[in-house]
Amino acid sequence: MMTVMQGLTNRGNQVSVPPGSIDEPDELEVPLPGGLTNAGLVVRKGATVRRPMRATSPATHALLRHLEAVGFEGAPRFLRVDKRGREVQSYIPGEAAIAPLPAWAVTDEAMVSVAQLIRRFHDAQAGFDPSPYSWPLAAPERFGHTLISHNDPCPDNVVFREGRAVALIDFDLASPGSRRWDVACAARLWSPLNDPADVADERRGRAMQRLRLFLDAYGLPAREREDFVDLVIVAYQWCYAQVRRQVAQGHQSFVPYWVAGGAARADRGVAWIEEHRGRIESAARPT
Ligand SMILES: Nc1ncnc2c1ncn2[C@@H]1O[C@H](COP(=O)(O)OP(=O)(O)OP(=O)(O)O)[C@@H](O)[C@H]1O
Ligand SMILES: [Mg+2]
Repeated sequence: MMTVMQGLTNRGNQVSVPPGSIDEPDELEVPLPGGLTNAGLVVRKGATVRRPMRATSPATHALLRHLEAVGFEGAPRFLRVDKRGREVQSYIPGEAAIAPLPAWAVTDEAMVSVAQLIRRFHDAQAGFDPSPYSWPLAAPERFGHTLISHNDPCPDNVVFREGRAVALIDFDLASPGSRRWDVACAARLWSPLNDPADVADERRGRAMQRLRLFLDAYGLPAREREDFVDLVIVAYQWCYAQVRRQVAQGHQSFVPYWVAGGAARADRGVAWIEEHRGRIESAARPT
């Protein structure tokens, strides 16, 4: 149903919040577009975002609290749990890169800023001890459990301002992983390493160049770029195994996404990476 509130999205910082009104019960809740997992359930309320909790939320909240304590600005603040049992986070002004991707989201500058943001996120974890908590599914151990990786650094989980990434959001899948694991997930998504038939904008045909740019912008050391294609493929399949699990459970957003092309695109993506293994390995190799 069309309501007056549909004009109020997370684009820009259009909803003005009088001081002290953050938790007033009559304050409007505006659904935020972008996600599939919690589609329709993530809302903005004043300067806050409300999201459903998960069994692993205490771990995620501990990570967000650590990031706040060390002054890392590139993540929402975990504030509290509201009366309805939802997690309350700070709203980050800006725009997530929601498909169809706008021109500002497909520039090299935007991608470089994502790589640098992920680097800062990893560096900010120094001193964080994840061991007391129960985390979501961890990345495969052979790629290292050296920090908490975001694991879902897709465009709609990054907030931008003026064409530059300012914050990662949606840490629901964050779990024990490593720098190169997160870099492989993100570089695959942002280069992107996809069949060109599935890249409709100026990034088409520039995947190798952009991959190298991403790895250099992050500053991934040479030793962590070895067997990069195997890493990317395992990370790709790990990600889609999670989607498949949701589909198997009949998730109301993932099922239509998957049958309307998601499954075929994922298969084409893995096949394209395999086919271009040699070129990807050499693009990933440091100069
Ligand atoms: N803290 C925040 N600040 C600003 N915008 C946010 C914030 N949290 C979420 N959003 C907006 O809401 C959208 C959906 O949020 P979120 O990614 O948490 O949902 P989700 O359904 O869990 O996503 P996914 O399908 O990636 O798991 C985001 O794409 C973004 O546009
Ligand atoms: Mg999301």
